[in-house]
Amino acid sequence: MSQYSPTDRPNGPVIADLRSDTVTKPCAGMRAAMAAAEVGDDVYGEDPNVTALEQRLADQMGKEEGLFLPSGTQSNLIAMLSHCGRGEEVIAGDSYHVIRYEAAGASVLGGVALHALPVAEDGGLDPEAIAGAVKEDDSHHPISRLLSLENTNYGQAVPLARIKAAVAAGRAAGLSIHLDGARFFNAITALGCGAEDLAAPFDSISICLSKGLGAPVGSVLVGPRDLMKRARRLRKMLGGGMRQAGVLAAAGLYALDHNVTSLAEDQHRAAALAEHLRALHLGTVTHATNMVFLTPRDGLDIVGAMAAQGVRLAAPAPATRMVLHSDIDDDAFAAILNGFTQAADARGAA
Ligand SMILES: Cc1ncc(COP(=O)(O)O)c(C=O)c1O
Repeated sequence: MSQYSPTDRPNGPVIADLRSDTVTKPCAGMRAAMAAAEVGDDVYGEDPNVTALEQRLADQMGKEEGLFLPSGTQSNLIAMLSHCGRGEEVIAGDSYHVIRYEAAGASVLGGVALHALPVAEDGGLDPEAIAGAVKEDDSHHPISRLLSLENTNYGQAVPLARIKAAVAAGRAAGLSIHLDGARFFNAITALGCGAEDLAAPFDSISICLSKGLGAPVGSVLVGPRDLMKRARRLRKMLGGGMRQAGVLAAAGLYALDHNVTSLAEDQHRAAALAEHLRALHLGTVTHATNMVFLTPRDGLDIVGAMAAQGVRLAAPAPATRMVLHSDIDDDAFAAILNGFTQAADARGAA
């Protein structure tokens, strides 16, 4: 079972959905921005909102160009295929999304090998492990080409010093470096650094707009001009060239204007939820940035118990991941805390 396995819906109204921050729905202001968006055919490069979004994120990350894509999965795939040819290799963490949850797309579609390394407790990769994974130039081996890191990883904001040490190990071996920054803005919020501080070590970065930032669709891949030229060709090849995509890009621009600072609020709520769960002794609890993980005590069906309270949770794998996001306001958060208290009381009474 994975965190993406289906779970039962609450019978009554859904008060809160903690399965992921991908479940956020566009707010009224975002919908108004989408409705008012001027559009053009982006495959001809004529959509002003797409162009503005791509350039804005590229500038913010200190890179030359950006490319608007339908999803984080396609963005990572296109990054890997832009960096690597057939018979070449990506080195990444074994729990990273590119290894575990992207259907091995780079291997299936691009003949790219994936080498998975153990992920350290802080979500980073150890420099020694990276150096050890790089293959010597020998006809028996794939050609090591790309190191792909992830920040945040399972909610953990990997510290800059750890990122820089991993990147240095990759550079020493001549690798290009990509960041799956699906939750890039959660990471810099937790690390208290600027976007360019985290972006600088990387050649390419994939940033998702449809997670904590609350846009309905979209990711942007940023990087140097020559790489992005290959990425643009691959996007067309994969059917990701969208026409009047400005309605979606307008949602992304709105998200960057309005939804970045509230990520800190999600992180405060995650910490408060973790504290509440610990006090209720429902199981083992950890938390990082906007995510809380509960490994329920033996036999406790926490997903079912919370569904009865109108709160939707992800399947335990073995921990149940709970993700705080902008669709959870003060009332919903109070209902979540109360729901867990009820579940604990019911458990005590059983
Ligand atoms: C770390 C990470 N990378 C990439 C993705 C892929 O994004 P998408 O669902 O838009 O394909 C996700 C999705 O949850 C993710 O958590």
